Amino acid sequence: MIKPGAVRNKHIGHILSKIEEAGYTIAAIKTFKMTLDMAAEFYAVHKDKPFYQELISFMSSGPIVAMVLLKENAVEDFRTLIGATDPDKAEEGTIRKLFATSKTANAIHGSDSDENAERESSFFFSRQEYLRTDRVQ
Ligand code: CMP
Repeated sequence: MIKPGAVRNKHIGHILSKIEEAGYTIAAIKTFKMTLDMAAEFYAVHKDKPFYQELISFMSSGPIVAMVLLKENAVEDFRTLIGATDPDKAEEGTIRKLFATSKTANAIHGSDSDENAERESSFFFSRQEYLRTDRVQ
């Protein structure tokens, strides 16, 4: 998911190029603004963290771009592509190093396991929208 700050700063195109150049197929994509309740549900796992309110307020502050991405070893390789949560610690050339402005406004979110990728995909898309891989390969 491309976060609101990166959308506001007009980085959607650059970020999609980096994702495709890294070998991902974009199986589903949409842009829309989450409500505060949606952001709270999406990030419920962090509800006891000190940064939670700031995170869900930011994530509902403007449009995001949600995507389902296909590739072998997609989850692990995506974490390498986007870089560390804190942009100050992200490797040169990673999406967060290039486009993040803070730990909260860190340009992009990636699922941290295959199980969460499934949960997060079904949060934004119907199964019909992203399981028809014959359309995109
Ligand atoms: P994301 O990949 O979207 O998953 C959870 C988000 O919480 C993370 O990226 C950051 O934007 C945010 N986050 C994690 N740790 C911190 C922190 N220590 N301070 C502020 N925000 C954080």
